[in-house]
Amino acid sequence: MTEMAPVTDASTAAPAPAPKQMVLPDAQTVTDVQHYTDRLFSFRTTRPASLRFRSGEFVMIGLMGDPDPKTGKQKPLLRAYSIASPSWDDELEFYSIKVQDGPLTSRLQHIQPGDQIILRPKPVGTLVHDALLPGKRIWFFATGTGFAPFASLLRDPQTYEDYDEIIITHTCREVGELTYGADLIESIRGDEMLAELMGEGFHEKLRYYPTTTREESPKMGRITDLMRSGEVFEDLGVAPLCPENDRAMICGNLAFNLELKDMLEEYGLEEGANSDPKQYVVEKAFLD
Ligand code: A2P
Repeated sequence: MTEMAPVTDASTAAPAPAPKQMVLPDAQTVTDVQHYTDRLFSFRTTRPASLRFRSGEFVMIGLMGDPDPKTGKQKPLLRAYSIASPSWDDELEFYSIKVQDGPLTSRLQHIQPGDQIILRPKPVGTLVHDALLPGKRIWFFATGTGFAPFASLLRDPQTYEDYDEIIITHTCREVGELTYGADLIESIRGDEMLAELMGEGFHEKLRYYPTTTREESPKMGRITDLMRSGEVFEDLGVAPLCPENDRAMICGNLAFNLELKDMLEEYGLEEGANSDPKQYVVEKAFLD
């Protein structure tokens, strides 16, 4: 058993910015935190040198739970989080909901740069390019924090190598909930490294289709309804999905995932897996 490092008293701490002691198992240090709304925030952490992952995968992350009142023992409180950063990034990024009485996110929302989180370095997931057969166009369908795995995939050069067109739809209740995704799309369009790798104009392949359901915005409605009515296809000037050309990844709340999965099956697409690549893959957003 490892001995816990003594807690440093801030008043006697040396002024030099010494890194904090790694007292948590699989500890990583928070490097940046951004808050978007009272329900959403993102943060970045150091990345374990040994961690390899495919863009779109998730890991278990969390904090140490409260001590057991009887034994005083603490257990890690972990949840699955999609890695929002691309596989080439030196750091890791996560995009999270804040649930005021959620066991983990009620605390996680207060993390600051320099704090530590627990990160189990065992990435897994189905939202990976390997689970899809080659196609012409890929659709990323997200609601809420389900945008996270696509934030990774949209920064992965393979996405632009494999497809002629990439359409990301993001449905949220309110306009402020679109900010993380909208900022990311804008930063990709101006990303010099991706432009160098993929060629100038790579971002012209990328189409962004944000919608809101409970606050006025330029495009209102659930993406599922906009697909049924044909509006999304008219707006984007593309044909409805077909198994020959279109590939899709789904990540959002459970009802959304199930509804869209049924719709994709109706378009003739079949669900793929790492071991059996097909035309679409689905994952649920991991809520507290
Ligand atoms: P709505 O406002 O009509 O419920 P949440 O924040 O609850 O996870 O929802 C995120 C977004 O997903 C909301 O805009 C919500 O729309 C939408 N949504 C929820 N369920 C579905 C579904 N079954 N199909 C399509 N969109 C959905």
